[in-house]
Amino acid sequence: MNNRIKVKAALAATAPAQGVRVCGWVRTRREGKGFAFLEINDGSCLANLQAVVDEGLPGWDDMPRAGTGAAVEVSGDLVESPGKGQRWELRATAMRLVGEADPESYPLQKKRHSDEFLRSIAHLRPRTNKFGALFRIRSEAAQAVHDFFRQRGFSWVHAPIITGSDCEGAGEMFRVTTLDPYAGKAQGPGDDFFGKAASLTVSGQLAAEIFACSLGDVYTFGPTFRAENSNTPRHAAEFWMVEPEMAFADLTDNMDLGEAFLKFLVAQLRERCAEDLALFAAWVDKTLEATLDGILAGPFARVSYTEAIALLEKEATTAKGAPRFEYPVSWGLDLQTEHERFLSEEIFKRPVIVHDYPKDIKAFYMRQNDDGRTVAAMDVLVPRVGEIIGGSQREERADVLAARIREMGLPEEEYWWYMELRRFGSVPHSGFGMGFERLLMMVTGVTNIRDVIPCPRTPRHLEF
Ligand code: 4AD
Ligand code: MG
Repeated sequence: MNNRIKVKAALAATAPAQGVRVCGWVRTRREGKGFAFLEINDGSCLANLQAVVDEGLPGWDDMPRAGTGAAVEVSGDLVESPGKGQRWELRATAMRLVGEADPESYPLQKKRHSDEFLRSIAHLRPRTNKFGALFRIRSEAAQAVHDFFRQRGFSWVHAPIITGSDCEGAGEMFRVTTLDPYAGKAQGPGDDFFGKAASLTVSGQLAAEIFACSLGDVYTFGPTFRAENSNTPRHAAEFWMVEPEMAFADLTDNMDLGEAFLKFLVAQLRERCAEDLALFAAWVDKTLEATLDGILAGPFARVSYTEAIALLEKEATTAKGAPRFEYPVSWGLDLQTEHERFLSEEIFKRPVIVHDYPKDIKAFYMRQNDDGRTVAAMDVLVPRVGEIIGGSQREERADVLAARIREMGLPEEEYWWYMELRRFGSVPHSGFGMGFERLLMMVTGVTNIRDVIPCPRTPRHLEF
């Protein structure tokens, strides 16, 4: 008889139920005269289910060991709770201690722990309210990504994880090798597994382009890797990216898609994760509701990079004459997070799409504009996070692309197939990458990327 129910289902019950079974971890145990209350959480939702266990029931002898952190199975009847604070409770007929947790050493005591401390126990942090909620939201967000593209007729492409080409041309790649790096013998790429240098992918875009130029509208969604040695709260060495790519689409189509995508995700998560999101609005970021409202409210602002620089230059000193930014602002320099946030939080007070960046700060594949100095790039900047999406229209003209690859000193022969896509039925096409963790930071108000990744990988951190 499978009478097991999840806490979420129990709490959403519309009628009492007899003979059910709940399995989970004890959050708290309170003892009264001749009975005990167990608050049980099974990870299915934020709330706990209260079980009332009377003295003398099967398993009662184990009650002293069924404290915070212990795994238990409680059988009984789901009944309306006479107590305050919950509609349903479980009237136990039996309790089974499944796995005990030594109260002396169990690290999750009943108090608020710092994010830093919880990072050091990433194997236990999903048992806290905050991280349980976070990782349920992460799961729902991933489902919503697929829903969005499915509704629009996009096909999901599985881009390779091991690659021989550097999509972004930034050289921040992790090497994949079967050679012993510590052996000290002189060996070259030719001796290695693939007979050439291999790396973990920094982006699925090039594979997405192949499939856009055959299936039409596609997206990738998977892990990507960057060996940026920047220990910032926004960068991880391993993160997930969503990369749509559309054939017969220009930069405006791309901006429209990015805007619709973010709005859809926020609306879906508000609907599907209301209880979990409320925790973040109450405890993590008091401005969260307003930020999310702002994303849904109206159209995103759109400005060219050149206009954005002019706006930032005007604001480069505060009213008191002090420099406002740590990093310089001038045409030709990349925008830093502080600039991106200022544009979005202070100047436009909503998400802003900056487009047409200088070609020298962008990747080789971006379509060159007629002015000879900018490319059809676009970044979506949002409050708190800064850049959440980076994308562009791709260079579809074979001669222009070949010249750019040479000009940037990239290994031309590596891109032979990429060039062929421009020779055989080339079409204007566009796409972008959305950092999945940046999305989660945006919707939860969490400010450190390490706290939205199950097992974060950052410089000098490879635990769990
Ligand atoms: O702007 P990026 O580098 O663009 C690309 O990789 C393109 N190939 C995407 C495309 O056009 N298909 O990265 C895209 C997004 C960024 O806007 C950011 O949200 C996220 O990926 N991102 C990171 N997230 C976490 N940690 C890192 N180290 C990240 N680097 C980029
Ligand atoms: Mg970028």
